[in-house]
Amino acid sequence: MNKQQVIICQNLKEDLTQAVRTHNYDRLFILTDEHTNVLCLPLLEDTECLKDAVKINIGPGDIHKNLETLAYVWSQLGEKGGTRHSLLVNLGGGMITDLGGFAAATFKRGIPYINIPTTLLSMVDAAVGGKTGINFNDLKNEIGAFYPADQVLIHSGFLKTLDRHNLLSGYAEMLKHGLISHVSHWAELLKFDFDHADYNLLQKLIGESVNVKETVVKKDPFEKNIRKALNFGHTIGHAFESFSLHANRPVLHGYAVAWGMVCELYLSHLRVGFPKDKLYQTIRFIKENYGRLHFTCDDYETFYNFMKHDKKNSAAGVINFTLLADIGDIRINQTATQEEIYELLDFYSETMG
Ligand code: GLY
Repeated sequence: MNKQQVIICQNLKEDLTQAVRTHNYDRLFILTDEHTNVLCLPLLEDTECLKDAVKINIGPGDIHKNLETLAYVWSQLGEKGGTRHSLLVNLGGGMITDLGGFAAATFKRGIPYINIPTTLLSMVDAAVGGKTGINFNDLKNEIGAFYPADQVLIHSGFLKTLDRHNLLSGYAEMLKHGLISHVSHWAELLKFDFDHADYNLLQKLIGESVNVKETVVKKDPFEKNIRKALNFGHTIGHAFESFSLHANRPVLHGYAVAWGMVCELYLSHLRVGFPKDKLYQTIRFIKENYGRLHFTCDDYETFYNFMKHDKKNSAAGVINFTLLADIGDIRINQTATQEEIYELLDFYSETMG
């Protein structure tokens, strides 16, 4: 997999101009959704390199991350003169960078692209690391490819207009990066005050967070081994997310991951000795900022069934976890029995109040 260049922008227009200049393209396309078209594109519109760019605008949200929208993007690329030498710029959250990245991976067998993520979740996770794709058959990211952007331009200025819930959702992935990397990074993340958000500090933390992800992806781009560290919190997190979606009260991805990390840190404590003090410090931060998901023990079986069908499992019915023996001490390919999983859910209910 080609190395992708992640740029923490000081000046988005100049950085975009530089990034575009490294490509020898015949036509430039820019993909937005109905939100970023109105809220973000105007910030770039007088950039000289975008003067002749062909705009492709699609519906917002995960509901549009599907084959129909992808086919629309393919047809726009084809009808508006796209060739193998065209360049695509994706401006948006994870839905845009995932779908746009997959359109780039497949159009004419692959064209180069640049990601400009506009949400915290996409800055620290979706836009970096080369995973692209769409939802299919009611399954998230069922069809996709590993196909990294040539450049990812991170402009933290977009975050000033992001609501607190979406900020926290992205921050959960940063917290995960803290847990799988260094105690100093983790401790710094736990100090962040969302009531008086310091955007300069946030920009610095984003840089460190992206670094953690890049280091992991560089070692294992295709998720054969250590990239599974990035799944920490996600086995139970995805079950929480699916449960909420089916109950018609969807929660943001990062909230589900934060709550998943509470359970998986406890499993880490039980199984591989994750220290108790760090367990409770992390839980306190999550409880204070994310609240909790409400469920009863009647729901345990539903959670368990979602986990059994997770695509991260290597064998049918065997649930795969990434655990931590300490901060940065990663243990991949762990499992847990049904009884243990029910015990984690008990722990969650008791601890999260
Ligand atoms: N979102 C996890 C990964 O990129 O591997």
